[in-house]
Amino acid sequence: MPSLINGNFKGKDIISLDQFTPSDLKILFSQTDKMKKIAMNAKPSKILNGNIITLLFYEPSSRTFGSFSAAIKQLGGQTVEIINPQQFSSVAKGETFEDTIRVFEAYCDAIVLRHPQEGSAKAASDAAFFVPIISAGDGIGEHPTQALLDLYTIHEKFKRLNNLTLLFTGDILYGRTVHSLLRGLSLFENNTVYLLSPKELKLSRGDYEKFSKKLKIVEIDNESQIPKGDVWYWTRVQKERFSNLSKYNKVKTKFTLTPELVKKYAGKNTILMHPLPRVGEIDPRVDSDPRALYLRNQTRNGMYVRMALIGLVLGKL
Ligand code: NCD
Repeated sequence: MPSLINGNFKGKDIISLDQFTPSDLKILFSQTDKMKKIAMNAKPSKILNGNIITLLFYEPSSRTFGSFSAAIKQLGGQTVEIINPQQFSSVAKGETFEDTIRVFEAYCDAIVLRHPQEGSAKAASDAAFFVPIISAGDGIGEHPTQALLDLYTIHEKFKRLNNLTLLFTGDILYGRTVHSLLRGLSLFENNTVYLLSPKELKLSRGDYEKFSKKLKIVEIDNESQIPKGDVWYWTRVQKERFSNLSKYNKVKTKFTLTPELVKKYAGKNTILMHPLPRVGEIDPRVDSDPRALYLRNQTRNGMYVRMALIGLVLGKL
């Protein structure tokens, strides 16, 4: 278990939502509000002056990579960007994961890591001698910074993170954003979570046991059981986690968010979220619905939350 934040982000690895308490989120969100002002006013900031952060991405990424890179630059910091180290670094010559982490930490103040292996962020934090590791997704494990921006987005809308009803649809088994967000929601009282997925992609029984201690979980298998709810969180079926593509093809767009579905089941304040990328599971006709936040606040908040998180972890805020 990585160290708890306990009111102090400085020097901490960010690997799991289990490290946070509601008061840690309060600190992060109040800094995020300030970061939003800095970014929106295009005021030059020197908060990360003199800092270099390495972005080490073993898996494809648009939003997480782009928003971390932009977040650091918004605050006057600089980045070393290593995309696909399997091909473009000494990893291609056979260098181990641990050595790679120790080499890059020598050049920077923090490493942001995305890697296909569950547990890799923890392994990197064990390997690093000096700098904090911020996970940008570890295989089917967790995606903590996505959950932080999702929670910020939900809080921005409802001003609370308790007493909520949420629907998660799509890949509940392999979707790391869902795994982190369920942990985040478990920190608060009285949240109810509906899970709608093909039967092959249901929450693992271990996770079900764990999360059902804090959340009311209702597993459904049919669109007619969808609750109005406060949040609908759609996800992509994680093609890269399937060894058998015909199995993927069978389930890839079993549940699609359409204007008809929204009209029939959503409430007037239900917000529509998706971590993106979408690959067919949200009809683009939904995009113009003001309740659809995935290409609006949810995406933008990613940069603001990451600005705040990096500033806090580096002890600059
Ligand atoms: C997610 C991921 O990488 O887990 N993407 C993201 O960071 N916004 C979701 C996904 O790829 O389906």
